[in-house]
Amino acid sequence: MNSWAIETRGLTRQFDKKIAVDNLDLTVNSGEFFGFLGPNGAGKSTTINMLVGLLRPTKGTALIDGIDMWEEPLAAKARIGVLPEGMQLYQRLTAREYIRFAGTMYGVPKAEVAQRTEELLDLLTLTDDADKLIIDYSHGMRKKTALAAAVIHAPRVLFLDEPFEGIDAISGRIIRDVLGRLREHGTTIFFSSHILEVVERLCTRVAVIANGRLVAQGSMEELRYQAETGEETTLEELFLRAVGASSDLEAEGRLSWLR
Ligand SMILES: Nc1ncnc2c1ncn2[C@@H]1O[C@H](COP(=O)(O)OP(=O)(O)OP(=O)(O)O)[C@@H](O)[C@H]1O
Ligand SMILES: [Mg+2]
Repeated sequence: MNSWAIETRGLTRQFDKKIAVDNLDLTVNSGEFFGFLGPNGAGKSTTINMLVGLLRPTKGTALIDGIDMWEEPLAAKARIGVLPEGMQLYQRLTAREYIRFAGTMYGVPKAEVAQRTEELLDLLTLTDDADKLIIDYSHGMRKKTALAAAVIHAPRVLFLDEPFEGIDAISGRIIRDVLGRLREHGTTIFFSSHILEVVERLCTRVAVIANGRLVAQGSMEELRYQAETGEETTLEELFLRAVGASSDLEAEGRLSWLR
């Protein structure tokens, strides 16, 4: 019996000639806090979009709790929450309306929707602005609204595409707090991020993708130890090595007009 919360088998997506995600085999245990790393354009968002049912794979399968996202989309989607990269929110709704709408859509009972919405608004410090239209919200306020909408049904598996991007230290802490509570509740969390320090602090396991291929996967300790020296290394060093970048950041190329 399959026990993975998230599993991909040979997951592939091609855009014209570009293979954005190439034969990806990923496994995430139930209850894990899983970090998904990779340079810009590596294929992180493409992978997440295939896992959550937003983008059809060219080949391969994406499973949530053993349920195929593309064979049984309703059953699979009922188990997940998603904070996508673009955060397409209904901008003509207020945050309160939007979060309630998400709860209703996920089938949360009406009285529960109202109560959970107020608790989420409060926890995310959005209560004072809850009746403002989302179109008038700042980036961070939108992100927090999108997060509330993604978790109101207490999903078994939560996907977040760069939840900390463009977020200040206070909001970052609040978001980490919300994620921590979900984790205590048993939610599996899968998130992409460029902020290695946050990944290092939060994650139990990490995968690194480069050019659409998986180049490292394991617990933080395993990955650090995998370095060929056998010594402990930092996540930054591991990341740079895994994606084939030099940690010597002296630019080799020059800008001809800057001398
Ligand atoms: N809709 C699309 N049409 C064509 N090419 C696409 C499309 N979406 C993504 N790509 C290409 O697929 C590759 C992977 O993109 P993706 O958005 O998954 O990267 P990413 O790892 O999320 O990067 P970032 O860290 O910048 O968000 C890139 O080369 C990108 O140009
Ligand atoms: Mg992305």
